[in-house]
Amino acid sequence: MTIIIGLVAVSGCADSTDEAAAEELVDKVPVYIVGTEPYFPPFEYADENNSNEIIGFDVDLINAIAEDQGFEIEWKDLEFDALIPALQSGQIDMIVSGMTITEEREESVDFSEPYINAGLSLAVAVDNEEIKSLDDVQGKVAVVQQGSTGALKADELKAEGIIEEVIYLAHVSDIVMNIQSGRADFMINDLPVTKSYMVQNPGVIKIVDDDIQSDSYGFAVKNGNTELLDMLNAGLANVQADGTYDEIMGKYF
Ligand code: ARG
Repeated sequence: MTIIIGLVAVSGCADSTDEAAAEELVDKVPVYIVGTEPYFPPFEYADENNSNEIIGFDVDLINAIAEDQGFEIEWKDLEFDALIPALQSGQIDMIVSGMTITEEREESVDFSEPYINAGLSLAVAVDNEEIKSLDDVQGKVAVVQQGSTGALKADELKAEGIIEEVIYLAHVSDIVMNIQSGRADFMINDLPVTKSYMVQNPGVIKIVDDDIQSDSYGFAVKNGNTELLDMLNAGLANVQADGTYDEIMGKYF
């Protein structure tokens, strides 16, 4: 679904040459609908001064790419596990949501070039002395974001009979609450996001393994949407070359 905004220059008298000129001035700016789950700092989260505004690394990066490529963005908030179905049904044009490029997802969407590395980490309550690494999770309860790569990892541990249970929740803040309350023993989540949570809320959780798996994020488009994918890749290359990417990195990391 692409909306075209037509900016028509209106002239005083309308003879046929003016009409033709006006026609040429119709500046068609494509507007792409971007799906995200915006509770994932520092990648996408509500601005504390204006909760209607989404800010973050992903937001600045896609805005810079949009400016470079001449398109506009309209955001759509969805739960993380609803993003790929929304892309497939045409409800959104792309996913910008700290989404890890995985082989399994490649079957249902097309990913851009990777735009950042972000692996998985294991975290526990600050006072947990029992779990010091992934080797200590035997018989324990994991809590993860539903539909995430952290959830996939926990599912693997469960399937191997290593862990007892997996709790799936929509938002990272709820995940941490389950660690705090003792309902779950450990969480598997993207390292930069868990780190950011710890900076914002010190003394709640600690990371005991920061390299469970190394991954890269990509922007996703509908299978075969090469027109948009080419723009995303070209824009990404341009903002990486002109220093904008590094500036955004410096702002959030
Ligand atoms: N990187 C992980 C994944 O792709 C988690 C991403 C969650 N993103 C978000 N905005 N909630 O599965």
